[in-house]
Amino acid sequence: MTDVATDMTSRREFLKKVSLAIAAGSAPSTLTKALALPESAGIDMSGKDGMILRSFRFVDLETPVEYFNTWLTPVPHFFVRNHMHEPSELSAEDCRLSVSGEVEKPRTLTLAELSKIETHSVVNTLECAGNGRSLHRPQVPGIQWGKGAVGTARFSGPRLRDVLQRAGVKPSGKHVMFRGLDEVPGKVPPFIRSIPIEKALDSDTLIATHMNGSPLTKHHGFPARALVPGWIGAASCKWLTEIKVLETEFAGNFMNPGYRFPNQPGPPGEAVKPEDTHVLTGLNVKSVISVPVDGANMKAGAMHLHGAAWAGEADVVKVEVSTDSGATWHGASLGNERAHYAWRLWSFEWKAKAGDYIVQSRATDNRGRTQPAVAVWNPSGYLYNAIDRVKIHVA
Ligand code: MTE
Repeated sequence: MTDVATDMTSRREFLKKVSLAIAAGSAPSTLTKALALPESAGIDMSGKDGMILRSFRFVDLETPVEYFNTWLTPVPHFFVRNHMHEPSELSAEDCRLSVSGEVEKPRTLTLAELSKIETHSVVNTLECAGNGRSLHRPQVPGIQWGKGAVGTARFSGPRLRDVLQRAGVKPSGKHVMFRGLDEVPGKVPPFIRSIPIEKALDSDTLIATHMNGSPLTKHHGFPARALVPGWIGAASCKWLTEIKVLETEFAGNFMNPGYRFPNQPGPPGEAVKPEDTHVLTGLNVKSVISVPVDGANMKAGAMHLHGAAWAGEADVVKVEVSTDSGATWHGASLGNERAHYAWRLWSFEWKAKAGDYIVQSRATDNRGRTQPAVAVWNPSGYLYNAIDRVKIHVA
């Protein structure tokens, strides 16, 4: 059998397994297991056991929410979002990063040169703007992410600011563009986006080469990626090969029409005019319940509810939990581990009696933002952040 035939067979078997699980009305935990990757799914998934495959076309992997039980997400359990194929040829020796545009001294850096620049570390919660898309009503097209296109890691590498300052940004430089080395299939436009110069010069914006203390893996942008803390994941360009300082915001597919949000919330399901939208930047305030999972059957008695809450560039100040469909709310305990752009783990002890429950979590940040009961609907399904809810049965 050829490699392609093997690929197709394993993909067919995998899809059959998933559709059988769905047809059989599996309990969520069974379904998560069925959706977990078989080793031979046909794309290179090494080191990503247990993840939920959201797209066969490119590598798009979601973390099951029950894995959110550590402050730093282990790299094997960190979600992956690719718009196109990962670069096939990558070597540390051949890595080149050009810095050009509105700068006095354009230059090209090798990885060795990059690694000589002072390293800085930032613990950042990285969330895909489309995380939770499948929960918007009416439903919207796009990768149907559940709640797990998010994770927290310690990213390290030189500050983007130090690299830009060495090149000498001209006063005309107002935006900084990143280009990734993705392999662009057919007519798909290349992954290029830009961020404003103020965010680029922020002391926490990095050219990250490491994640949780180890060199980046290929799925996460080896050998170097941008890390734009507190902002939607799309700002953090992987496989970084070009940095260009521009006079104006980059105009391309992933800035417009991609990754834009309505200026004003409109009626769910209605189209929004492009001129009534803006580029997405910082993340929303949000919490998720990681245990119990939706649909769980639990035993009556002491129950430890826990999850994570984050707020992009803001800080989470409180997480409340309701076990009675929202009639009453109680403060959850926030974990001690914290950093400016990182999520807080939370927990809540509950004495559960037999019955059926809707358990909910609601986060509030230091900007006074609180998770709403219903997220703002938008045609691309971005920034879903409604109060999290799970239905459970206690026997
Ligand atoms: N960078 C490149 N070059 N190509 C991509 O497709 N996806 C972006 C961003 N950087 C992407 C990229 C999106 S949409 C997200 S959410 C994050 O990478 C995901 O980072 P991760 O795969 O390391 O979790």
